[in-house]
Amino acid sequence: MKGLLINMYELYVEKKFGEDLWDEILEESDVKEETFIGPKSYDDKILPTLIETTARHLNLTPNNVMLMFGRHTFRGLASRAGELVKKYQGPEDLLLELDSVIHKIEVKKLLSGGEPPEFNIKLHPDGHMTAEYSSKRGLCHYAEGILHGLADYYQRDIDCEQTQCVHLGGEKCIFELRFKPKVKNE
Ligand code: HEM
Repeated sequence: MKGLLINMYELYVEKKFGEDLWDEILEESDVKEETFIGPKSYDDKILPTLIETTARHLNLTPNNVMLMFGRHTFRGLASRAGELVKKYQGPEDLLLELDSVIHKIEVKKLLSGGEPPEFNIKLHPDGHMTAEYSSKRGLCHYAEGILHGLADYYQRDIDCEQTQCVHLGGEKCIFELRFKPKVKNE
């Protein structure tokens, strides 16, 4: 994994929970590096390890932390990708090009040697979508968080149900999604 996401995680923890917590997390996680450089490649285990340590500190599960950070990630990736995300009218449009254009073409421009996950996305006639996620990193909860962040970005609500998970013996990680108009709280 490139330093980009680890960097974004560091900034997220520092801003939300304070720099002291980040220092403790780094120390306890037994990670050699102290700083992470966006375009450099790091061991895939670093981000999950940092997230596990954070979860212990905050009394949350690692999956909760993955979801929270994923939700925050979409905006960060969108802002780093210049005009790319602005060309999509809504979350459905963007998801239909997530694999073939965003991850397979644009990420290569942003980060040489980047290895994004694979997504197989379908839009069904009733408007719901199926997203199959596959990655050697197994970060499906993180992916779920990013899908929530995508809905936030377009000011939509999302129903997102994971119907298969490789961590629970499934062949793939599959999400059934429906984007809905945002219900405003009075
Ligand atoms: C709903 C939209 C998106 C989803 C669900 C998604 C999902 C993910 C996930 C789960 C990862 C972690 C790596 C892994 O699982 O193997 C990842 C990595 C990445 N994604 Fe996306 N992503 C989305 C949109 C974007 C956008 C808009 C960009 C902007 C160009 C982007 C660029 C990247 C980059 C640069 C990486 C890191 C690759 C590496 O470290 O080698 N993604 N994405």
